[in-house]
Amino acid sequence: MKKIETCISPDLIHLHDLEGKTVVVVDIFRASSTMVTALSNGIQCIKPLKELDECRNYKDQDWLIAGERDGKQAEGFDLGNSPLSFLDNAFAGKKLAMTTTNGTRAISLAESDCNEILIGAFLNLQATVDYLKSTTNDVLVLCAGWKGRFNLEDSLFAGALSLELGWKHDCDATLAMEALFQKAKQDLTGFLQKASHTKRLQNHQLEKDIDFCLNLNTYHSVIYLDKGYLKVKPGRNNKKRLSHQRNSLNL
Ligand code: MLT
Repeated sequence: MKKIETCISPDLIHLHDLEGKTVVVVDIFRASSTMVTALSNGIQCIKPLKELDECRNYKDQDWLIAGERDGKQAEGFDLGNSPLSFLDNAFAGKKLAMTTTNGTRAISLAESDCNEILIGAFLNLQATVDYLKSTTNDVLVLCAGWKGRFNLEDSLFAGALSLELGWKHDCDATLAMEALFQKAKQDLTGFLQKASHTKRLQNHQLEKDIDFCLNLNTYHSVIYLDKGYLKVKPGRNNKKRLSHQRNSLNL
């Protein structure tokens, strides 16, 4: 029986054995939600980068560059980190270089030691579940958190993913996340009202981003890291599976 475990912060990743595993990197507010939305709306590929300067360099090579720090768009960048920027194929066919406070750092920490990296969000939860059920690897959910600290929204995703997979596991973090999700699932928005990053985004008038990132299964795209570039897995892309479904989870 395949197994699942949860790493609640990138700063704890050294405690987990990644060898042979599929790592699902999640940053609900907002990096992973933006990556899923951009690639499901025609962005050709995304280069995730840790540093602002690394990312700026792609501008010279005619890439679109998106940069965010502390929830705000970084200076001199084409875009910040809002998934809404990519709706309706706004930048279809373009290549995107992207750096964020936590999400792209988390990807860089898992990149070398695991079998495969996927990008998980509520927006493509079912697509990710269906794909993981079709593979043989054990799974590690890597929560991007906030500057090394635990956060609620990524942890809720870990709980939802584990409940949907229904695999046995001996991971206390995953048990806790499942219980957390069972408690929150009827009203994710309400449950996350007190979350630190909800407040941070509200302070930047980014409420619409919060709402969008909590939609369920808007896209049926599986997002994976292919030789350092995020892409839609071939044969696993259905732009818009269902219209926005909110909080009506049958888990
Ligand atoms: C991050 O990577 O930390 C987040 O995505 C931050 C944000 O976009 O608000």
